[in-house]
Amino acid sequence: MISEKNNNSEFSFSSENKTLAKKELRKYPKGREVSAIISLLWIAQKQNGGWLTNDVIEHVAFFLEIPKIRAMEIATFYTMFNLSPVGKYHFQMCGTTPCMLSGSDELKEVLSKKIGPQSTVTDDNLLSWIEVECLGACCNAPVIQINDDYYEDLDSSDLEEILDNIKKSKSIKSGSYKKRIASEPLDQNLKMLNEEQISILVKNRKKPGIGN
Ligand code: FES
Repeated sequence: MISEKNNNSEFSFSSENKTLAKKELRKYPKGREVSAIISLLWIAQKQNGGWLTNDVIEHVAFFLEIPKIRAMEIATFYTMFNLSPVGKYHFQMCGTTPCMLSGSDELKEVLSKKIGPQSTVTDDNLLSWIEVECLGACCNAPVIQINDDYYEDLDSSDLEEILDNIKKSKSIKSGSYKKRIASEPLDQNLKMLNEEQISILVKNRKKPGIGN
């Protein structure tokens, strides 16, 4: 499955990334190594400064000994793969329903104002953004992924502060901006019920339906 021959692509894995790519292949049963394609495209994208060129995709396909179109299909399907240059800090802003109901439209306005339309890269190559579908952290909505980390429970002033800190080369804090640990409840008064309280609730629960 792994070919050491050179292909015509100008891109090739660095020796460190080639080792990493081979390690990914070993996670899959013999004959099924192509399933590592997402990991390999991800490694290649990181090596290439955050985006996939035609050559990069071609090299991954060559590495897996599959037709280029198969690698292209994966690269063009997932928003985690960028097909044009991105900034050093690439923002993936979730605009799906829970994030939208929790204020992602305001975040979108901030990003448009400070960076420009989606897929714009700022002149200093520092910032870029796109809107993506659910990032799988809806309980901490609204969420933005910046490079490899999640920034959660954001409002527009949090986002403006993040952008300012990046511009000033200051570190930025990932995780919840409402001081939550993971997705613990925001309401301090919320308490866990014991088994007896739960059984009383269940017994007294009204059945769904009209008139009940
Ligand atoms: S809807 Fe935004 S993380 Fe799921």
